[in-house]
Amino acid sequence: MSDLQRLLGYREPIFNASMAGAAGGALAAAVSQAGGVGMIGSPAAPKTEWIEQQVQHVASLSTPWGVGFMAWALEADLYPLEAFLDFGPSLVTLSFGDVSRAAALAHEAGVLTAMQVGNAADLERAMADDIDIIIARGGEGGGHGRNEAGTLPLLQLATAQQQKPVIAAGGIGTARGVAAVLAAGASAAWVGTRFLAASEATGHKNVKDAIQQAGLDDTTYTRAFDVAQQLPWAPEFGGRALRNEFSDTHADLSTWAPDEQLRLEMQEARAEARTSMAPVYAGEAVQFIDSVQSAAEVMAELAGFRKVLADAASRFA
Ligand SMILES: Cc1cc2nc3c(=O)[nH]c(=O)nc-3n(C[C@H](O)[C@H](O)[C@H](O)COP(=O)(O)O)c2cc1C
Repeated sequence: MSDLQRLLGYREPIFNASMAGAAGGALAAAVSQAGGVGMIGSPAAPKTEWIEQQVQHVASLSTPWGVGFMAWALEADLYPLEAFLDFGPSLVTLSFGDVSRAAALAHEAGVLTAMQVGNAADLERAMADDIDIIIARGGEGGGHGRNEAGTLPLLQLATAQQQKPVIAAGGIGTARGVAAVLAAGASAAWVGTRFLAASEATGHKNVKDAIQQAGLDDTTYTRAFDVAQQLPWAPEFGGRALRNEFSDTHADLSTWAPDEQLRLEMQEARAEARTSMAPVYAGEAVQFIDSVQSAAEVMAELAGFRKVLADAASRFA
């Protein structure tokens, strides 16, 4: 048993990634009940009603659950974190921004903190920050983050420090992937994309259909969707999404100026889940999704890592 497993009390070393728009309370509860750590992904400015609805799924669980935030959004307003802390999460993740105030607040409430890091400088900062757990996230991963280091080199650097527990993220979509990161010293796997088409994940049918049809070569790393929507993401955090007509024709941002008409068009495309224009954030592990499954089925598949590790051990004994 790893130190992190002892600390958090999970059975399976698998966390669903906190994904705004996809990982609500229903997915987190299903993952937690299947033995992993279920994470709710908070949007930048959630309403109280939304928070209460998500928490209803997890608050009475005897298994661990947590909630993840975009740190840049908490810099402006700590309310979403304060509201979630009232319901007793086991873990809070703070990624993509200054974490000092938010981490202090979580620790005052006795809650562990984690942060996604995407390069060596991030890792160094996270070692100095008030952060308990490092999530080493490679550029293969879906959604926002850096596109600098791959999961494996970053993970090897992070596990070598041997001071804070490390969770691996980015491109993990099968039992083999989980086995690989555990063998490289991770305490657990942080899995986002593989859960996107789970029946408990929130997301329009068009989005889940596109996810099932896409493969390894169909993702792109881009800021085009954020620029079009005029979202306040820092430029170093683009996002990995499925390539579509919009990302193909708007690869070059150097000539872009804010355009209200385009912002409205993108808003409409998102509302209608028109996947030729709207972003479908997903990482390279989209290759491993070809049907809608329950989160429990995905967890059972990923938990096959034990057999993969045993097979590897006997092959190289
Ligand atoms: C649809 C989607 C939404 C995401 N939203 C968030 C988020 O709100 N906060 C966050 O910290 N990370 C978010 N991420 C990134 C994940 O936490 C994680 O880094 C990524 O999913 C791991 O790689 P994988 O997708 O290959 O499993 C999101 C990822 C996806 C695919």
